[in-house]
Amino acid sequence: MIVLDKENRIFTIHTLNTTYQIKADQYNVLLHTYYGPRIEDCDLSCLIQCGNRSFSPNPNEAGRSRDYSLDIMPQEYSTCGVGDFRLPSIEMELPNGSHTADLRYVDFRLEKGKYMLEGLPGFYSVKDEAETLIIFLRDAAAQVVVKLYYGVFESLDLITRAVQVVNQGTETVRLCRCASLCLDFLRSDLDMITFNGHHLMERCLDRGALRPGIQSVGSVRGTSSHQHNPFVMLCDRDADEDAGICYGAMLLYSGNFEAAVECSQYENSRLIMGIHPYHFCWTLEPGESFTAPEAAMVCSPNGFGEMSRQFHRAIRSNLIRDPYAGRRKPILVNNWEATYFDFTADKLVDIAREAAALGIEMFVMDDGWFGLRNDDNSGLGDWQVNTEKLPGGLEALVPRIKDLGMKFGIWMEPEMVNEDSDLYRAHPDWILHIPGRFPARGRGQLVLDFSRKDVRDYIYSQLREVLSSTDISYIKWDMNRSLTDVWSEALPARRQGEVYHRYVLGVYDMLERLRRDYPNILIEGCCGGGGRFDGGMLYYTPQIWCSDDSDAIDRLRIQYGTSFCYPVCTMGAHVSAVPNEQNGRITPLKTRGITAMSGAFGYEMDLGKCTEAEKTEIRQQVENYKEYYDLIHYGDYYRLSSPFQDNAYTAWEQVSADRRKVLVNVVLGCTHAASPFRTLRLKGLDSGLLYQVDQTGTVHSGKELMKAGYPLPQIQGDYPSFQFYLKVVE
Ligand code: GLA
Repeated sequence: MIVLDKENRIFTIHTLNTTYQIKADQYNVLLHTYYGPRIEDCDLSCLIQCGNRSFSPNPNEAGRSRDYSLDIMPQEYSTCGVGDFRLPSIEMELPNGSHTADLRYVDFRLEKGKYMLEGLPGFYSVKDEAETLIIFLRDAAAQVVVKLYYGVFESLDLITRAVQVVNQGTETVRLCRCASLCLDFLRSDLDMITFNGHHLMERCLDRGALRPGIQSVGSVRGTSSHQHNPFVMLCDRDADEDAGICYGAMLLYSGNFEAAVECSQYENSRLIMGIHPYHFCWTLEPGESFTAPEAAMVCSPNGFGEMSRQFHRAIRSNLIRDPYAGRRKPILVNNWEATYFDFTADKLVDIAREAAALGIEMFVMDDGWFGLRNDDNSGLGDWQVNTEKLPGGLEALVPRIKDLGMKFGIWMEPEMVNEDSDLYRAHPDWILHIPGRFPARGRGQLVLDFSRKDVRDYIYSQLREVLSSTDISYIKWDMNRSLTDVWSEALPARRQGEVYHRYVLGVYDMLERLRRDYPNILIEGCCGGGGRFDGGMLYYTPQIWCSDDSDAIDRLRIQYGTSFCYPVCTMGAHVSAVPNEQNGRITPLKTRGITAMSGAFGYEMDLGKCTEAEKTEIRQQVENYKEYYDLIHYGDYYRLSSPFQDNAYTAWEQVSADRRKVLVNVVLGCTHAASPFRTLRLKGLDSGLLYQVDQTGTVHSGKELMKAGYPLPQIQGDYPSFQFYLKVVE
């Protein structure tokens, strides 16, 4: 709900549990007065104090008064060069060479439903469950208008933000920074939580107290990256899973980003989130506009768990566009770890046959099926079937898979090219490269200039030929290197600062075309695993391969960190063979199953090599997953322990919306002789109801299970695990 106080020029956004407030003051400066737990009928500008502080300048119109300074007051969208020295949201190079932005409130507009941004991902409203507030700011001297967009999903407790900059003048303006979100706090006694890592270990949680100065995470790799995720949190120093105020902010963007917090001299703090300013410079000719990608915020008054569940709900219902919405997604088997590049059609059909017999529903053919792709030094760019490996092409292979009762999926890496490819030999100028320099290789490959429509059109026509040749149900859209040598043949020198962003827009354009032309194909995003796991990709690819690390124990950390923002249904997770291909660890099949089941589930191994006992177990896992699918995918997710803090076990839980069904998952870390007897306290149950544990038949009240706990069985061996299902006694 958006409440307007026109007289006092106060805009109050209420969601179910939170309030967000903005006020235009006497100088038409747009102040941020509050974001936090819901407060009815309030004007919280009384919280903002300002007074004479040396070295904090006063705007010209304040005359001789020294009591007012942009440098001290919380800004809704911070400016630069005119008196606020903290992190700017916007920076422009104006025709006279100055780097200034002085934005003042002009007007507002309310709209029913949620705004959408052309060519960019965003949360969408299905009916009128959302509202839009647009606030117009203007830099009068520069003749630049900045529109601040707010999408309000009241029942989801979610507020989205976006920004559009319009050059209304008669001269060229260069935009050097344009954040999507600026969030000022009248306090700095907060912790910042970020999700960091590397290839094979993404989104590990890091928490630290804000310190004076700027602390930031970001990416200049051209993708959102394995290293830092475009999701950050700020919270009370003592906040935990169940208590304390915490704020989560996600950027729906898959390229370079920056999330920075500045703790300022008077113990205020400011979070800025948006496209990374590195090599970003967008030329706005008169009449042109630039739209910054969307950001989304959740504030939970009750700890991290609630914040995560709000994001999960919103992402599930209003961000991802899943061709399987309301239907169960197929359980897949992928041949990558089973064969790598070394396969024949018969080998693939063998894997599929074994999988079909175990109840698995889709076969995904990974890398190696096209061009001269016998290793990772050649072939990318030549999206024609390698008929030496697959005689008769897909037209021969796919019917064999479908005859087994399985769907067929395929791997592609459309953004890339190898020098050893027909495509590169024909179009060496189609890559990102800087004249006079030899471009860096990554995994032996170069990056196609997806900022160029002609390049995209060609690749798209190649993809279409593949997709139209046979019945394909799924695409794994991969991307296996970071961007370097970012320069485009198609743009003049003054526009080269646009290439990074145009590249991302190009990727979105391709994915949107696929969605339009093949609405029933499920697309799984991938970037060497989870190097582009972000809200932007999720708009096009409802699930993303979470990590190239398929070891169940490492996955506990990766999936735990990922769960802070992203729901289980978005996390591609597979059972793979042991010793694990990435770290050599041996874990029980049961543990691998339980871990992967809390994800978009599949297998990634040669099932023909399994023993009969293992096959029986896999058949059971598949059945369990099908049975618990709704609970796992649509249930509320509770983290019961942290793999970063507790060596003994990692536990998590899914609870149905009516709190009548619960799935508890526990993986033990380190087993010891004569280990302590432990109890696990559950969460999210109904205290007044009685629950029966299906494995033991015992009955316990919700209160008992939440307050006192449930005894963890004593199990021996390496990394054992168990899963139990509770349902309300009717
Ligand atoms: C990336 C993916 C893997 C696999 C390989 C194929 O690393 O993350 O799952 O598809 O590429 O080359």
